[in-house]
Amino acid sequence: MMERLVLSRKEFTLFQAYIYQHIGISLGDHKIYLVQARLAKRVKHLGLASYRAYYDYLVADKKGAELEYLSSLISTNVTSFFREQKQWEFLKAHLPAILKSAGGRLRIWSAACSSGEEPYSIAMFLAEHLPKDREYDVKILATDVSSKVLKIAMNGLYSQKAGESLGEEYLRKYFKPEMIGDEVHYRISDVLKKQIVFREFNLVTGDFSLFEKKTFNIIFCRNVMIYFDKPTQSALVDRFYTILPKEGYLFIGSSEALTDMKRDFRSQSASIYQKG
Ligand SMILES: C[S@@+](CC[C@H](N)C(=O)[O-])C[C@H]1O[C@@H](n2cnc3c(N)ncnc32)[C@H](O)[C@@H]1O
Repeated sequence: MMERLVLSRKEFTLFQAYIYQHIGISLGDHKIYLVQARLAKRVKHLGLASYRAYYDYLVADKKGAELEYLSSLISTNVTSFFREQKQWEFLKAHLPAILKSAGGRLRIWSAACSSGEEPYSIAMFLAEHLPKDREYDVKILATDVSSKVLKIAMNGLYSQKAGESLGEEYLRKYFKPEMIGDEVHYRISDVLKKQIVFREFNLVTGDFSLFEKKTFNIIFCRNVMIYFDKPTQSALVDRFYTILPKEGYLFIGSSEALTDMKRDFRSQSASIYQKG
């Protein structure tokens, strides 16, 4: 039988610093067992003898592939279709005004898109609520630090459980059923998928100058800042502020807040902020 690997305090401190620096997640000292549990399988899979050996492997990988893998092990990817219901109601009520200022060209960024439920919800929302009397130029950018969840997002195939929150009408309109073994799955329609560009992007270390000319009308950055400490959150909100045009919206998770952030965002409702 394989020996159980133990993560020492000293090794944990190395991972703590590395994860904070490269992913932005600050892990408290009590997270030592969580890190041990999440990394154990990977260390064994690579045939390494200790967590220290895995740390050295990680640091030596200059291409960053192992960092991506580590991100997917450490962060939580929980998501669902039409999460944070009040925000969708807000969006429905304010869509005419948003479209008026956007002038027919809508750019939306789902900035920690996980396995795709968030950007596909945006696409379904727009398919339902954009006025039909004219064409709109719509593009949705969906990014995440983890290549693992992005693959799922790009594939666009969801289990029956994931589809449960959608209801029959949306499943019929925007998905095709597909059997995998004896379980039904749902594949997102190509028309919706084509509106979305999926990319890897790290919100902590990524180069935001890439987005300076994109003029997003709305940025969704939901349920990810909660893993970052205050200085990291504040730096991220500053960057969003810089790239958003006046009147642009920032949607965050309901358990997150922009309190103590110096930027001039007006709080609307339901964790929605608008650039002043
Ligand atoms: C809990 S999910 C939230 C998904 C979706 N936004 C929602 O609200 O349902 C958090 C996502 O943030 C991503 N993430 C964590 N750290 C990140 C970083 N530094 N840059 C970009 N994405 C990150 C994770 O990979 C994960 O997919």
